[in-house]
Amino acid sequence: MPDIATTAHKTVLLQESVDGLAIQKGDVVVDGTLGGGGHSEEIAKRFGTDITLIGIDMDQKAIERARERISKITPHAHFFRDNFRNIRKVLEKADLKKVNNARHCNRILLDIGLSSDQFEVSGRGFSFKRDEPLLMTFAEDPKEHEFTAWTIINEWAEESIADVIYGYGEEQFSRRIAKAIIEAREFRPINTTLELVHIIEACVPFFYRKGKINPATKTFQALRIAVNDELGALKQGIADGFELLAPKGRLAVISFHSLEDRIVKQFFKKLKDEEKGIVITKKAIVPTDEETKSNPRARSAKLRIIEKI
Ligand SMILES: C[S@@+](CC[C@H](N)C(=O)[O-])C[C@H]1O[C@@H](n2cnc3c(N)ncnc32)[C@H](O)[C@@H]1O
Repeated sequence: MPDIATTAHKTVLLQESVDGLAIQKGDVVVDGTLGGGGHSEEIAKRFGTDITLIGIDMDQKAIERARERISKITPHAHFFRDNFRNIRKVLEKADLKKVNNARHCNRILLDIGLSSDQFEVSGRGFSFKRDEPLLMTFAEDPKEHEFTAWTIINEWAEESIADVIYGYGEEQFSRRIAKAIIEAREFRPINTTLELVHIIEACVPFFYRKGKINPATKTFQALRIAVNDELGALKQGIADGFELLAPKGRLAVISFHSLEDRIVKQFFKKLKDEEKGIVITKKAIVPTDEETKSNPRARSAKLRIIEKI
């Protein structure tokens, strides 16, 4: 049995993001996306008991893993299974006044999307290489919100499916794929990832099927974003998170998708124009060639940081 703290996830832009947060003694640091616990572990190693760490993730396994790794280093860490869009509620629950005699938090890190653990071993249908139920929920127990990839694939209208696949996946064959899904589900429900992959493979042109990326890649990404309302959570998480920061506090966001990066970039620009924040990263920080070579998943990562005035 692998121990719970074992993770397949390789932390992206680790030093760049922790350095960029400019953490100080006495800070309350929020990691809104614990995942494999990589960023939090580095923060705990560097700052130990000098800071208070608040860790959030929707995935119970991520919480357990991070707790196991981080509690060994510092007792000043508190963990919450929640959506980071509820950061306000989480900080109320954390009772900063009691744990740190603080009213605000000072640093927030969001490293959004999916961890490799969820992709590889969650059994929730994130990977088009495994035959798993069509769930794609970050939370482990999909019953909690009932809305899963299955709902979109089996219940939504053709037009809406096409819009999701195009809007969140930028998939050029979105209409064909949506049509093929509707035709296939007339016979019986589409229950698993591989059933969906076969439908996609059969309806796209030969050159696309044989191309560099799997023809299901963009559809899967789009479904995951829709199921978890990832863009909505990001918008609310950064807006509320920034409000909850103390003056001179910093918010750092690592995104992996152009739509996400655009949301972060535009929000930071608005704060700068309103003279509420100083953008620390004039241009997004991206991984070095060395990092992308050792971790191809880092390829599309972009880190942006803002400091509250
Ligand atoms: C890329 S991983 C984070 C990896 C982590 N920074 C590390 O280095 O190990 C993203 C994590 O964020 C979680 N997540 C994504 N969206 C979330 C949200 N809206 N609220 C809470 N957790 C979320 C996922 O469950 C996943 O565990």
